[in-house]
Amino acid sequence: PQITEMRAALLAWYDQQGRTLPWRVRPEDRAQGLSPNPYAVWLSEIMLQQTTIPHGTPYWFKFLELYPTVQDLAAAPLDDVLTHWAGLGYYARARNLHKCAILVTEAYGGEFPETKSELLKLPGVGDYTASTIAAICFNEPTSIVDGNVERVISRLHRVEAPLPKAKAIIRKLAATLADPERPGDYGQAVMDVGATVCTPRTPACETCPWAHWCQAHRVGDMTDFPKKSPK
Ligand code: ADE
Repeated sequence: PQITEMRAALLAWYDQQGRTLPWRVRPEDRAQGLSPNPYAVWLSEIMLQQTTIPHGTPYWFKFLELYPTVQDLAAAPLDDVLTHWAGLGYYARARNLHKCAILVTEAYGGEFPETKSELLKLPGVGDYTASTIAAICFNEPTSIVDGNVERVISRLHRVEAPLPKAKAIIRKLAATLADPERPGDYGQAVMDVGATVCTPRTPACETCPWAHWCQAHRVGDMTDFPKKSPK
């Protein structure tokens, strides 16, 4: 019952306050049957792994213009891809990006696989990316956990264990909350709460859809979470 209310509060918040990002399909468009393009979502998630949204977004537009499909990216010379990647850093990601495009083109007929377990077989696609694509594009009820989500969940439950040990606990808690009907929106909603409301130093609890259920908010020690291991 509480979980149902928390999901509803979060999704209602997301429908109104969620960020408009170019690779997202708005809830009202999704209701019309539009679904996100897995290639575009994959590209955004790989680019944003060690990069902020403002810095990464222009690269996402540029790549989609240069390489509108995964086949176009696969056909490009690696050196060109690396040149266009310049400024995003971590060139291993760009090499894996190209390798992955070739594999999807050659072994999967140009279509991204539709389950988390199959997505995990692709080069450069780890747990976070596989979960995110599976949830957003294929409605697989898998939870998405990034650094922002770890902060939100550790505050919500006042998780005493320090990172990185707390990760397993946080994953379990996130999985129990995840929404089976709208897994992609749910995961992105928690990321948005973490990025725009439940911020590291000055969380805006007065606008948080989960404040009512948040244990750290009740105690008032939000910024003590997540706990970190002493160096
Ligand atoms: N950061 C990286 N990918 C994101 C997404 N899909 N939603 C919100 N924040 C993100």
